[in-house]
Amino acid sequence: MEATMTPLASGFDFDIWMTERLAKVEQALDRWITTNVSAGLDHGAPAALVQAMRYAVLDGGKRLRPLLVFAAHEAFNGSNDGVGAALRAACAVELIHAYSLVHDDMPCMDNDVLRRGKPTVHVQFGQASALLAGDALQALAFELLTPLDGSVAPVIQAQLCALLARAAGSAGMAGGQAIDLASVGHTLTEDQLREMHQLKTGALLHASVIMGATCATPSANALEGLHIYGHAMGLAFQVVDDILDVTADSATLGKTAGKDAEQDKPTYVSLMGLDASKAYARDLLQQALAALQSSGLHNAHALQALAHMVVHRAC
Ligand code: IPE
Ligand code: IPE
Ligand code: MG
Ligand code: MG
Ligand code: MG
Repeated sequence: MEATMTPLASGFDFDIWMTERLAKVEQALDRWITTNVSAGLDHGAPAALVQAMRYAVLDGGKRLRPLLVFAAHEAFNGSNDGVGAALRAACAVELIHAYSLVHDDMPCMDNDVLRRGKPTVHVQFGQASALLAGDALQALAFELLTPLDGSVAPVIQAQLCALLARAAGSAGMAGGQAIDLASVGHTLTEDQLREMHQLKTGALLHASVIMGATCATPSANALEGLHIYGHAMGLAFQVVDDILDVTADSATLGKTAGKDAEQDKPTYVSLMGLDASKAYARDLLQQALAALQSSGLHNAHALQALAHMVVHRAC
């Protein structure tokens, strides 16, 4: 039977859930990306660099990765255990994502001028500042995961850092981006394309889910379900990104539509066509929902709703 759990099952209001968490993450990012030492991070950072970092991160973005961290964390918890760690993990993964976008848009990569409805960071601040803002956002992500105030247990800090480092590095996002650049003008097999998408995009979404769970006390069975969910959602997200590049307009996306074909990038649409790509995204959604259903998690409503959102989003 198809797994068709609805986001509104059991009186769960996804809009309220999301609004509350988006506000929390926005506030925390605003507080942590600062030159202000009273925020608890002893930066003494140059104001111009912090300005570029804030421009890259604040006022834009769907914050899907932080939402996945919260949803996975809350799937295990009725209590407040690990709430502080989950907020740090949510912001850390968003910082890595934002840095990846800054670098992805640079002339040496996708050479894009529009992101989140604004000029890209290198257009606004110059290439050197964009490069450094990306570097600094990456470092700040790990600083957030390693507070010295005893609020996150050392073993959890280490686990979160390991998960995020792996997902961001050569066996994750950066590796996938390298494959992406090397693949321009080439036709990939379906296996190669899946591998590329799993690395460049899937790894960070999967890590978001597992980092959220790590802030709670996950059972082995539930964790196994979340691994399947995270992998399916991670891949689905980039399949849909490929689809939207063809079907949506730049104003809706907040980034330049039609870039993939223009730059001769291998995508799911170029490999299998629009209809088959949409069917594949729906198939991945069913895989994710089925994994949740067999995971035994009692509080998976937000994870279900986010899965629907990933596949049915308009931007
Ligand atoms: C865009 O990610 C880049 C990809 C990994 C496909 P998002 O679509 O999540 O971008 P924002 O964060 O909402 O701007
Ligand atoms: C980017 O993929 C994935 C990243 C790691 C940033 P895309 O190049 O397709 O992302 P967009 O379409 O520019 O957001
Ligand atoms: Mg790219
Ligand atoms: Mg791009
Ligand atoms: Mg894209």
